[in-house]
Amino acid sequence: MRKIQVRIFDNAETAAVYSAAIVEQVIRSKPKSVLGLATGSTPIALYKQLVDFHRSGLSMAGVTTINLDEYVGLAPDHPQSYSYYMHHHLFDHVDIPESQIHLLRGDAEDLEQECQRYDNIIRSHTIDLQILGIGVNGHIGFNEPDSALKANTHVVQLAPETIQANSRFFTAEETVPTQAITVGLQAILLAKQVLLLAFGKEKAKVIYEAVKGDVRTSLPASLLQVHPNVTFVLDRAAAEVLIEHGFYTSTPPRA
Ligand code: F6R
Repeated sequence: MRKIQVRIFDNAETAAVYSAAIVEQVIRSKPKSVLGLATGSTPIALYKQLVDFHRSGLSMAGVTTINLDEYVGLAPDHPQSYSYYMHHHLFDHVDIPESQIHLLRGDAEDLEQECQRYDNIIRSHTIDLQILGIGVNGHIGFNEPDSALKANTHVVQLAPETIQANSRFFTAEETVPTQAITVGLQAILLAKQVLLLAFGKEKAKVIYEAVKGDVRTSLPASLLQVHPNVTFVLDRAAAEVLIEHGFYTSTPPRA
């Protein structure tokens, strides 16, 4: 049985370089790769590194991207939208043609139709590499802990802890969205390879549960245990509880 592979780095910067090198490897072995992309604070360092790799010669012109999620109610030009984030951190600085970039519209008039439009895109692509972050409650994309999860793209009510965590990106005057559109578990689990990044001690407990706990919908990231090719890329802080429980890679992390 394959387990989730875990790589622990001294810090988030080194982990981001490692992750970017994997992305480069995927693109070099298949220039027309499809990348599933996440937002949030965690992958920012990865995108910065990819922009550096692009400036030093990596072409992404053949790459197609499919983002995981978007806040309901935010137009793509809203500074807190994930569309804006992706352009700011990656798309404006690399050579992926706009026609190969797929993002959800949180401001769509008919959200159900928007979900179907996105599922058609997902169905016509195979994601070669899916980049994920993880919520403190174990969500992936915005598939929040629940007694049942959805396979397809859907509108979701964000969990209180997610709204709380996301409020750090919004000013006091702005209202933090309480709903999002997210791809479902199927899109994530059908990706050929998954790279989940997590940094910081606030993720340590959920990382331990996702890797070592039972597979359960109340901790969506634990479902990754059934996927054949998943690597968790962690800094030491996010790996703290795994390490406390005796988890080591081939060499113990330095003290
Ligand atoms: C964002 C996403 C979320 C985030 C998660 C962690 O596209 O899918 O699952 O990855 O909420 O967010 P950060 O990285 O800000 O801790």
